[in-house]
Amino acid sequence: MALITLRQLLDHAAEHGYGVPAFNINNMEQGLAIMEAAQATDAPVIMQASRGARSYAGDIMLAKMIEALAAMYPRIPICMHQDHGNDEATCLSAIRHGFTSVMMDGSLEADGRTPADYDYTVAITARVAGMAHWVGSSVEGELDVLGALEGESEAEDGHGATGRLDPSMLLTDPDQAVDFVRRTGVDALAIACGTSHGAYKFSRKPDGDILAIGVIEAIHRRLPDTHLVMHGSSSVPQELQDIINRHGGEMPQTFGVPVEEIVRSIRHGVRKVNIDTDCRMAMAGQFRRVAQESPREFDPRKFLKPAMDAMRDMCRDRFEAFGTAGHASSIRVIAMDEMATRYASGALDAAATPAKAA
Ligand code: G3H
Ligand code: 13P
Ligand code: ZN
Repeated sequence: MALITLRQLLDHAAEHGYGVPAFNINNMEQGLAIMEAAQATDAPVIMQASRGARSYAGDIMLAKMIEALAAMYPRIPICMHQDHGNDEATCLSAIRHGFTSVMMDGSLEADGRTPADYDYTVAITARVAGMAHWVGSSVEGELDVLGALEGESEAEDGHGATGRLDPSMLLTDPDQAVDFVRRTGVDALAIACGTSHGAYKFSRKPDGDILAIGVIEAIHRRLPDTHLVMHGSSSVPQELQDIINRHGGEMPQTFGVPVEEIVRSIRHGVRKVNIDTDCRMAMAGQFRRVAQESPREFDPRKFLKPAMDAMRDMCRDRFEAFGTAGHASSIRVIAMDEMATRYASGALDAAATPAKAA
């Protein structure tokens, strides 16, 4: 199965009313865990690599790994996506290494920390969309910045502004979202609704005051054909916190985005759901458990195999909860060249005209 573009996959998801988890990868074990879960549930896959993942594994290693996974699991369409691209060079070099989709995160300046002004966000996102579409790659843009509505954003967020932010930046304005999608031509729109990256999202189980699903509903009413993306969507399950803490970890009590709230947002146009922290926690819990239960162990496989299994089980749960399961075999992949032709002919305007296989 050839690699699929984000645009075609999310068009399919919208047509059939499901969401697709986008799992971050850095290494072979995470890739295998995702693919095992996808194979078991017949789910199409989005794998995404951050700039940090690209420098950790190397572009050639990541490109060959995706090629290997596509050969090992020929029935599963895989979208390979650049997570949080910060400038044109990052996005274009990802495409050159075989990525079928890029995120141009122009909500922040190129340093990845400073909130950008609206004109900058529009200009750089439109520029990347214009270039990427010439070769058939998809583009995700972001409007407004992720951050906790409860107060200070954590430095641990990794991608995003730190410190106290103007609350107006933390919730995407539906009118501005309409203008942004029209002016940039993005295929998917990442919105801010109170989620943040990392494990420490909420100090209590979130309600509507700190997790604004209402904002998603309002944007979807204004932009019913635009695929929405929810970053910072790890659920930080209590059982994963407990495994880590039972085996020597010291994670303070924290709360993530409840799976049922994600399922609700999928009913309101969210099609791509970004998850990294849950993958990390599933694996780290097993590293800690093996290290504590078998202090004489030093074979990395004895740590990595249970870690892969735990991540696989978490991915499978998300494929099932988001309705992704059961859809892989019904997708006929459209090649990137053909997508390029459709963009050039104007047949794929800002996520309004679905990409369907002939
Ligand atoms: O967007 C954030 C992801 O969790 C990637 O994090 O830059 O540490 O790879 P990273
Ligand atoms: P989490 O930290 O909630 O897993 O979010 C990941 C993310 O949004 C990657 O872009
Ligand atoms: Zn993100």
